[in-house]
Amino acid sequence: MTRKLKIGIIGSGGIAGAHVRQYKKMDDVEVVAVADIVPGKAEEFKGRMGLPQARAFEDHRKLLELELDGVSICTPNAAHCRTTVDALEAGKNVLLEKPMSVTLEEAVEMVRVSQRTGKMLTIGFQPRYDPNMRTMKDIVQSGTLGKVYYIQTGGGRRRGMPGGTFIRKELAGSGALADIGCYSLDMALHSIGYPKPLTVSAFSSNHFGTNPKYHPEADRFNVEDFGVALIRFEGHLVLNFKISWAMHADSLGPTLFLGTDAGLRVTTPQPTDGWGGVWDGGVGSMTLFHDVNGFQTESPIPVVEPRNDRFYDKVRDFVEAVRDGRPAPIPGEQILRNQAIIDGMLRSAASGREVDIQLPD
Ligand SMILES: NC(=O)c1ccc[n+]([C@@H]2O[C@H](COP(=O)([O-])OP(=O)(O)OC[C@H]3O[C@@H](n4cnc5c(N)ncnc54)[C@H](O)[C@@H]3O)[C@@H](O)[C@H]2O)c1
Repeated sequence: MTRKLKIGIIGSGGIAGAHVRQYKKMDDVEVVAVADIVPGKAEEFKGRMGLPQARAFEDHRKLLELELDGVSICTPNAAHCRTTVDALEAGKNVLLEKPMSVTLEEAVEMVRVSQRTGKMLTIGFQPRYDPNMRTMKDIVQSGTLGKVYYIQTGGGRRRGMPGGTFIRKELAGSGALADIGCYSLDMALHSIGYPKPLTVSAFSSNHFGTNPKYHPEADRFNVEDFGVALIRFEGHLVLNFKISWAMHADSLGPTLFLGTDAGLRVTTPQPTDGWGGVWDGGVGSMTLFHDVNGFQTESPIPVVEPRNDRFYDKVRDFVEAVRDGRPAPIPGEQILRNQAIIDGMLRSAASGREVDIQLPD
């Protein structure tokens, strides 16, 4: 057998456990090191995850001194850039958790370092591995819709507010807009080939997170739990985006792609709790609409049951890309546009004005 790929984990909180569980299913991979900035946390994680051989560190730079083929970066958003840049500079391939970063500048820096070092930077959007998402992309890319001029997307959690590091601006950078908004944006923009965003006008609020009636950590909650935005793209395309962690409604509406020849409507499955939504890869129905001329024709597109192994697929794709010398499965260069929009939404919501999105060449 060829040698096992050596993987390190940076940040040993909730999602790091999901990464390790996937790596442990693979015969050709071993998790050899874990780093967490909180003293004792990496050691405790090792024990809990059954990684007796792995080394534990508090400083991720010590972990990066080891011979590693790749690292999973599972820190809060605010630490994504520093740890990723350090990992790439140390010659490691990176699977970075979503959202890519807090600011556009950080995303640009990470991409530049990845290009300079020749090391892989891939972003962990597991909904990409859902077959329904692939069907949606295939329909949009097939040209069936004609010229797409309007997209509406986003996701509404009725009551799905996280706590801990997710609700503090200094750690997360942003709330619902980035946390689950990045998925919805990726779903729509990946389908249509990530056009170049030009301007964004956004609004956000946090009426529920800051209310002790609705959130146990209301006194520390300083990110948005709701946001909307209108984003203009090159090629006369506009995206109407809506997202919420909490609201007095069960949905913010379907995802729509309106084209000159047909329209595609995508709904979420009937939520079984307050947390579900199209944003996370769950698709309830897909319908194609033709003919605005009186006789409306609707064709249901078959959807498959949402799968549980999307997370495995994303981690496995990273491993195989490293092993086979393939390009990043979900490249930082592409997700830069996702991050540019989030950055623009945050700037616009803060200023109460439409803002330009400036992308580097
Ligand atoms: N893909 C998904 O389904 C999914 C789900 C949840 C979270 N996430 C993403 O994963 C990331 C982490 O989320 P989480 O729920 O695991 O958060 P968490 O707060 O549970 O864990 C983060 C860990 O990182 C550690 N940390 C912070 N700064 C560090 C640094 N500089 N070096 C090393 N360790 C550091 C913290 O001490 C903590 O243990 C976030 O970016 C989040 O958006 C992705």
